[in-house]
Amino acid sequence: MTHDAKMTYRIGLLPGDGIGKDVITEARKVVETAASSFGFSVEWREFPYGAEHYLNTGEILPDEALEEMQQCCALLQGAIGDPRVPPGVLERGILLKTRFYFDQYVNLRPALTYPNVPTPLKRGEGIDIVVVRENTEDLYVGLGFLSNEEIEATVDMKRPSYTLKGALSLKVDPSMKFAAQLALATEMGVRRITRYACNLARRRKASEIVLATKSNAVKELYGLWEEIAKEETSKEGISLKLVNVDALCYQLARDPSGYGVILCPNLFGDIVSDLLAGLTGGLGLSPSANIGDGLSMFEPVHGSAPDIAGTGRANPLAAILSASLMLEHLTQVEASEAVKNAVLEYLRAFPRQRHPMELGGEATTSEVGDSVASIIQRM
Ligand code: NAD
Ligand code: IPM
Ligand code: MN
Repeated sequence: MTHDAKMTYRIGLLPGDGIGKDVITEARKVVETAASSFGFSVEWREFPYGAEHYLNTGEILPDEALEEMQQCCALLQGAIGDPRVPPGVLERGILLKTRFYFDQYVNLRPALTYPNVPTPLKRGEGIDIVVVRENTEDLYVGLGFLSNEEIEATVDMKRPSYTLKGALSLKVDPSMKFAAQLALATEMGVRRITRYACNLARRRKASEIVLATKSNAVKELYGLWEEIAKEETSKEGISLKLVNVDALCYQLARDPSGYGVILCPNLFGDIVSDLLAGLTGGLGLSPSANIGDGLSMFEPVHGSAPDIAGTGRANPLAAILSASLMLEHLTQVEASEAVKNAVLEYLRAFPRQRHPMELGGEATTSEVGDSVASIIQRM
């Protein structure tokens, strides 16, 4: 960031795989339009990581790239994952590695109903929910083991805020192939995300948060979540409603209108946010922010959608709305609002035919980006 006459933001751009490239082109177009309207500029630093780069070079995401990202004000990412590469290699090696390296412990996933967007709902058309997904722990910590008979493993996990060391010894009798995956919850991890959810509730003038849990089956892990979340919410003066995640999914599908801030452990947050994307009209409208005390990363909730990559069918609004969250984070609040309002205006005022194909229209990915950018120019 420099303090010339015009503020310049260096943004790390990771288009990634599949439709990631398609939607990031549009998000970039819209950010550039907003920048020229609101008097700041953006210097893009594009990173090539993803399937193509991996298949050509064998490199996934080198540590030097993470160090270079540190020079950026924020990261804007498309999607990672490709059918030519076994599941998990790139997703863990790029996406999760970035979330963990920068300790982006909040995964914020707003779910809103939009004007003229068809939804499967009969009730609760006015959804205004934010999923606050814990983003560094749970089953995602990467402590997985696979064996034909016996697991003898040492665990040596270093995190910015703690280390976990020890040994794991497991054997099945009679011997057969088996796998074990450890899920982790720490007091510090639950406390900081609960505090974030409480602050968000206060900003939204809400007095309650809902915690998606499952302590009836997974007692120790989610029992700790409940204990710490109770302590933290009562300190913060916010009330806490505990709901088993299965029942929560059921209630959300029937009538999501009463919900506001939903706090989730990592895996449940992943699932609940895709459910809400479906209920609000599509993954192509669902943005997210991975926030930490250091560098934050903004990306759509959706993946690389190889089924529609390169066809012009991808809806770029989720990426554009993620860019709006990024602008807010960079304190370009007016530009952020303008981008969000332009998306609303586009959905409200443009005929259905000019809407994204995902929403029943005929517009290609780049036509959608052009339409949103044209509204910002006219504002
Ligand atoms: P996906 O989100 O890519 O696709 C699910 C369905 O939604 C598909 O039918 C797809 O066509 C549709 N869809 C998604 N985004 C859309 C958009 N913007 N416009 C229109 N339709 C859209 O999930 P998946 O199929 O389970 O995963 C595909 C790949 O993406 C996998 O490799 C997965 O690991 C990866 N993935 C990456 C991320 C990420 O980088 N943040 C997130 C989820 C999945
Ligand atoms: C998401 C994705 C990722 C996750 C995958 C690709 C690792 O589904 O961002 O929602 O599970 O967090
Ligand atoms: Mn997901």
